[in-house]
Amino acid sequence: MTTQRMRLARKVDEALEICSFELVAADGGALPPFTAGSHIDVHLDGGLVRQYSLCNPPWEIHRYVIAVLRDPASRGGSRAMHALQPGQELLVSEPRNHFTLAPAASRHLLLAGGIGITPILCMAEQLAEQGGEFVLHYCTRSTERAPFLERLRASPFAPRVRAHHDDGPADQKLDIAAAVAAPSGGSHLYVCGPTGFMDAVLGAARAAGWAETALHRENFAGAATTGVNDGAFEVQIASSGVVIRVAADQTVTAALAAAGISVPLSCEQGLCGTCLTRVIEGVPDHRDVYLTDDERARGDQFTPCCSRAKSSRLVLDL
Ligand code: FES
Repeated sequence: MTTQRMRLARKVDEALEICSFELVAADGGALPPFTAGSHIDVHLDGGLVRQYSLCNPPWEIHRYVIAVLRDPASRGGSRAMHALQPGQELLVSEPRNHFTLAPAASRHLLLAGGIGITPILCMAEQLAEQGGEFVLHYCTRSTERAPFLERLRASPFAPRVRAHHDDGPADQKLDIAAAVAAPSGGSHLYVCGPTGFMDAVLGAARAAGWAETALHRENFAGAATTGVNDGAFEVQIASSGVVIRVAADQTVTAALAAAGISVPLSCEQGLCGTCLTRVIEGVPDHRDVYLTDDERARGDQFTPCCSRAKSSRLVLDL
């Protein structure tokens, strides 16, 4: 994927353990445009690649703004981000969007949990600019852990924002069932936040009768390597005809490496697309969060770092 060198222009403490990072082109030029819900891959020291949603208004082309929670359980990405200092340069991919606003929707229900506010904020900016009908529910543990609360309160769409804090009075807490009740025909729901929060929202929405096509979630945690339905299968190298067995507890890239075949790798969890490989025959079992639904449905490429096979063999364009 195309990357460009960017400079950290500003780093701001937005909330407890959360900083925002304003990135500008290192050469000072305009940036590739993006749409609400887009994310960028940020390349960090040690070969780490992390995805972060853009949270600035989507009509801005002079900067990308992301926000990062310092996560003690992280594998190094959030720590590396928080160690960055203004003036430092880093490689950033062009924006990619797996979490788009449905253009035909007549009403949008936005739900954010904690740092999951980032793409939702961008969506709210876009909808407000376009005169779209929406409500934004923003759930956090406390106000001190709620980034962009002031920006939301000062925004032209403040009347559409409902903030809910776990440590606040009972009457302001989010009643998920009530928030998603009685979906109208043209409504679409978008949720981003911790997995438990997203699962609770989507479970309540399904119970309330929302159509699956009207439900949208941002998922950076990675559906990758769930271990569900893992089984052994074979991959065949198209150029040589060599057949390699992938054991149930082995990734395709590990099996390939053991046979002396290397595939470029970066995140190794289905996030970045670096390992993307063309599939000539067979049916991939996609475990990544990189490909779009349309790309998955085509079945002609997969991410061998985490994805597997539904057929007994995949023929790979290697
Ligand atoms: Fe990142 Fe496979 S290495 S998706």
